[in-house]
Amino acid sequence: MNKVYTKVTDSMNYFEGNDPVALAEQYQTPLYVYNERILRQRCRDLKQLVTYPKFVVDYSAKANSNLAFLQIVKSEGLEVDAMSPGEIYLERKAGFAPEEIFYICNNVSAQEMQYAVDAGVYISVDSLSQLETFGQIAPGHEVAVRFNPGVGAGHHEKVVTAGKKTKFGIEPKYIPEVKALLKKYDLKLVGINQHIGSLFMTGEAFVASIAALFEIAKQFPGLKFVDMGGGFGIPYKKEQGEAPLDLKELGQAVDQALYRFAEEYGEQITFRIEPGRYISAECSVILSTVHSVKHNHDKKFVGCDCGFNVLQRPIMYDSYHGVEIYRGSDVQSEKEESVTIVGNICESGDILAKDRVLPEIFKDDVLGILDAGAYGFAMASSYNCRMRPAEILIRESGEVVLVREREELEDLTRHMIPLENV
Ligand code: LLP
Repeated sequence: MNKVYTKVTDSMNYFEGNDPVALAEQYQTPLYVYNERILRQRCRDLKQLVTYPKFVVDYSAKANSNLAFLQIVKSEGLEVDAMSPGEIYLERKAGFAPEEIFYICNNVSAQEMQYAVDAGVYISVDSLSQLETFGQIAPGHEVAVRFNPGVGAGHHEKVVTAGKKTKFGIEPKYIPEVKALLKKYDLKLVGINQHIGSLFMTGEAFVASIAALFEIAKQFPGLKFVDMGGGFGIPYKKEQGEAPLDLKELGQAVDQALYRFAEEYGEQITFRIEPGRYISAECSVILSTVHSVKHNHDKKFVGCDCGFNVLQRPIMYDSYHGVEIYRGSDVQSEKEESVTIVGNICESGDILAKDRVLPEIFKDDVLGILDAGAYGFAMASSYNCRMRPAEILIRESGEVVLVREREELEDLTRHMIPLENV
């Protein structure tokens, strides 16, 4: 293999001695590749965030819910959150006990709540209306409530989940109503939670939000836990030298706040966080094959098989993903140029990387789309009737295993019912 542009994966020995061009050939592209060692390391980073002893990291499985992935996270001693019965189902399959699952629901039916009650998991509701529904189906039960601390953060307005502009959480001014509903249905409030948004690279908003959350917690004696949410960011512009989130600095600030609150509250309460991206993003690269290179009105387009059915983040949030180049042929070029990398979906918004200055790319090159493990496969679709890709895992030994088969044409009709007469 000819390593044309491989700085980031080289620096982390991402492929553990495997050749990405050979992987692309063997498993076909587009292909999600995961690295077990990096996934485990990210779990450990967050488990060590604070010294406070009763601290639980719930992996937010919405970011990546592949079973193998969940099994690894479980073996690292993390617990999980869930956003749907589907996630609860997969988490149970991966070996999580009901009490290790925190179901954080938003606008769900009574039947869906009942599924979670029957599954025996912890449940959080995030409106007075849903608390009422919960009381009706499970009077006397334990419940948690999601509050909106008034402080939000995130990489795009679509992923800011607290503050004045979002649908999530209960405003603190409704605490008397929450208390009244708890009393009405004899519910026991075991936890309160928040999630301010996704992807912060400095800790100020998070630290401010937990201070606000702790003020709310003080009004509810007897809680078992306070869940501070996720949102821990990763540097997507690594090749430009973007610095990672300073976990040490953030950890120290959070640690102080936890000890202080636990002392004021008077009990050794459990604190939880629920990160998705931090754990899952950096252990994945998508391999994609270049099928065409062309000029259109002075712009150079590189066309590959990673459309937005495979990775939706760029079209959805204008997100940036680093791109690497691996080459099977011995074509040589010293040229660097600005290119726009696009997929194979019939929409002009199907742009993976806009105006990137990269070494010259040729047809049949294999591209590596970096940091794709969070909200990558999880948001993939079969739009344009393209099959969802396969996923492989590079084990710590370097061995490669298939952890999800590529969809096949038959999968497209699996749930369709053709008419018997037309
Ligand atoms: N907890 C709750 C209640 C959440 O809604 C989320 C994410 C998380 C935890 C985990 O957040 P994280 O640590 O991964 O930032 N699709 C978007 C991100 C959406 C996040 C939605 N909620 C993206 O690709 O950037």
